[in-house]
This record gives sequence, structure tokens and C-alpha cells, in this order.
Amino acid sequence: MTTASLPPCTGRLAGRVALITGGARGQGAAHGDRLSAEGATVYLADVLDDEGEQTAAALRDRGSDVTYLHLDVTDPDGWAATESAIAERHGRLDVLVNNAGIVHVTPIAEETLEAWSRLLTVNLTGAFLGLQTMLPLLTESAAAAVINTSSIFGPSGAIGYAAYAASKAGLLGLTRTAALELAPAGIRVNALVPGGVATPLNANEPGTGVVPETPLGRRADPVELASAVAFLASDDARFMTGTELVVDGGFRAR
Ligand SMILES: NC(=O)c1ccc[n+]([C@@H]2O[C@H](COP(=O)([O-])OP(=O)(O)OC[C@H]3O[C@@H](n4cnc5c(N)ncnc54)[C@H](O)[C@@H]3O)[C@@H](O)[C@H]2O)c1
Repeated sequence: MTTASLPPCTGRLAGRVALITGGARGQGAAHGDRLSAEGATVYLADVLDDEGEQTAAALRDRGSDVTYLHLDVTDPDGWAATESAIAERHGRLDVLVNNAGIVHVTPIAEETLEAWSRLLTVNLTGAFLGLQTMLPLLTESAAAAVINTSSIFGPSGAIGYAAYAASKAGLLGLTRTAALELAPAGIRVNALVPGGVATPLNANEPGTGVVPETPLGRRADPVELASAVAFLASDDARFMTGTELVVDGGFRAR
């Protein structure tokens, strides 16, 4: 599936400035494609520098304003440098997509503190640092929207995914609390809750992953998550905050 097979873009993010973590590939790259097609100036941030530069260059080739920035979301100094770069050029940030994430599958009895802590630091602390560091720039926006990428393994448990599920449930708590704290500043904060998505993240997943429990019978194409992010980022979702947008092919309906 390609973006061309979805309903056309409407330019509803024209003039907006967006930052997407984990933007080099997978869903983050699809969000960059969709948000820039909707008119936004997009910053893709990642640790995969070659892939990130290539993703950004491909979008620039079609005329979009897309820049790649190196950012390890666990690094407070990296976040400060990202904030400075965007502040210098724009003085504000309209859309923050905390999308960067990692996964491993280990039974609780065999989990190591190191692997547990690493996953929580990337998936949960990374989003917290992003939100906290970007707050001054989000406050300058007239229509600020933050989207935190959770997972169906946030509201549901999943055998072998203790650290991942804890991080994704934590993101739902962060989302709700941030929505309450930041509503007076006009900053909306919502969670995206994907089901199985065909990306490199689950390339090594045993079997077909959650597909047997997915009523629509397949993994999502990343563009199907990107259209949900474009909605949450836009004024179409201006009365939505502190909530979850589930895009899971029916997994949670079971
Ligand atoms: N693929 C799925 O089935 C699925 C389902 C639900 C939720 N998610 C979530 O969606 C998000 C995107 O994942 P994806 O499926 O596109 O996988 P992906 O592996 O293709 O993309 C994740 C990106 O995050 C980047 N990243 C990892 N650690 C980082 C760090 N410390 N700093 C900056 N960037 C870092 C990676 O380099 C990669 O580009 C993740 O948060 C993931 O947990 C994925």
C-alpha cells in the first residue's frame, strides 16, 4: 500500500513545524512522508544517520521541507541541541511525535535489569525528555499537538513483552497526565495505539506476530498509522486530548 492509495492530502498542516523521533524508517518515516505531504516542515530525528539522511533526501526530492537530525532520545544534551536547532529556525514547535522505540521478547524469569532499563529508557524516558525539552517551543505554538506512540501491548499484556508492555502502558499514563497539565497552555497530548505494523521492528518476531488475533487478518501498512497521526496533529482533532487512538485492525475488539 502507498500513500497514493489513501484519501488525498488536504494541506491541513501547512505552515506547521513537526519533529518525529525514530523518523529514519518504519512508521516514523511514514509519518514524515504524510505530515510533509500535508504541508508541514518536518524534522526527522534518529540514531540511524545514513537511513535518516536518505529518507529526508527522498522527501526533499518531491519538494517537501524535511531535515534529518541525529538524536538519541535517551540523551538530554541531544534533546537540548535539537531544541536549539528548531528554536533558531522557527521559534516554535507545532507537532511532536514521540515515536522512537525498541523491543525485545524475554520471559520475566530471564529478563536482565540492563535490558529492562534500556528499553524503559528509550521508549518511556525518551518521550518524557522530548516533551519536557520541547515544552517552551510547544508553548509558542498556536496549535500544539503531541503524539506518543504506545502499542496494543500498552493496554493489553503480552507474554514475553514485560518491559515493552510496561513502557507502552507508561506512555499512556504520561499522555493522560501531560494532557491535564498542558491543556491550559493549549497543548494537546494524545497516544497512538498501533496493532501489528509491518516494519523492521517486528521483522524477527516469531511467526506472524499478532496477525492471528487481528480480525482484519494482516499487519498494518505504516501509511495507515501515518494518516492517524496526521489527524491527531491537525485541527481536525482540536477537541481531542488525553486520549488514545487505536489503529489495530480490530485486535482490541476481541
Ligand atoms: N511495528 C509494530 O508492530 C508496532 C506496533 C505497536 C507499536 N509500535 C511502536 O511504533 C514505534 C515505531 O516503530 P516501528 O514499527 O516503525 O519500528 P522501527 O524499528 O522501524 O522504527 C523505530 C525507529 O526508532 C529508532 N530508535 C530506536 N532507538 C532510538 C533512540 N535511542 N533514539 C532515537 N531513535 C531511536 C530506530 O532507529 C528506528 O528508526 C515504536 O515506538 C514501536 O514500539 C510498533
